[in-house]
Amino acid sequence: MTDTNSELTVEFRRSGVTGTWDGSQETILELAEDLGLVLPYSCRSGICTTCQCKKIEGEIEYTQDGVYMPDAEDEILICCSAPKTALVLDI
Ligand code: FES
Repeated sequence: MTDTNSELTVEFRRSGVTGTWDGSQETILELAEDLGLVLPYSCRSGICTTCQCKKIEGEIEYTQDGVYMPDAEDEILICCSAPKTALVLDI
């Protein structure tokens, strides 16, 4: 955890929910779950793509090695990523 990604907002736009990333979760999926969202997932390790979603704004970093990288630059896997900047996601 670096100072640059503490206290970032993460907006789940279609869900109408915005949370604050303060480093207490490992992944964006965990943040969503802590906010009460029920989102699709399976492997939680960057392999199955069940958690793939569109990123509208912001930058992420993957928290694990060897994850499947979606072809589209704006598609991300939220089970194995963390925000680098404030984020807006299309979920
Ligand atoms: S849940 Fe399988 S890639 Fe995210």
